[in-house]
Amino acid sequence: MQRLKKTVVMVGMMGAGKSAVGNALARALGVAFRDSDDEIVKAASRSIPEIFERDGEAFFRARETEVLARLLRGAPCVLSTGGGAYLSEANRALIRESGVAVWLRADLDLLWQRVRHKTTRPLLRTANPRETLRQLYEARVPLYSLADIVVDSAADLSIEEMAQKVA
Ligand code: S3P
Repeated sequence: MQRLKKTVVMVGMMGAGKSAVGNALARALGVAFRDSDDEIVKAASRSIPEIFERDGEAFFRARETEVLARLLRGAPCVLSTGGGAYLSEANRALIRESGVAVWLRADLDLLWQRVRHKTTRPLLRTANPRETLRQLYEARVPLYSLADIVVDSAADLSIEEMAQKVA
């Protein structure tokens, strides 16, 4: 198997399947899988909702940039990011330098089906989370579109099939 030259960075909305597909892709390629949210949680010893609540979103975003910079300096791997990670120019520049950004594109209805019953996303703790998700989606799509590769997430494909599509 050809060795991976750059880190494959999974970007896109919450619920797109970045972690699940990224994990399967890493296994298929025989490389390590990393997840920026997991690294932030590990370092802070608290959950993402707790970090947002106690330290604020700006603190979370600063940690996210640090984690991306650190992981992108390491050996090429598959790196799944949180839904907001690709929005900042600084993060995109880091990713551009040592990675290939893959936008896992999914339509809003599919995203909503996947996130509606979860309570782990602080940005969706609003009076109307469906509308909040729509607004985030509208605002973010133009930035996700800057990714190097776009792969459509299909509801009828398994995680492994999605990983093969990305590969
Ligand atoms: C966020 C998405 C989350 C997590 C945090 C912020 C976002 O990750 O990083 O709650 O801004 O969209 P997932 O995309 O893995 O849910």
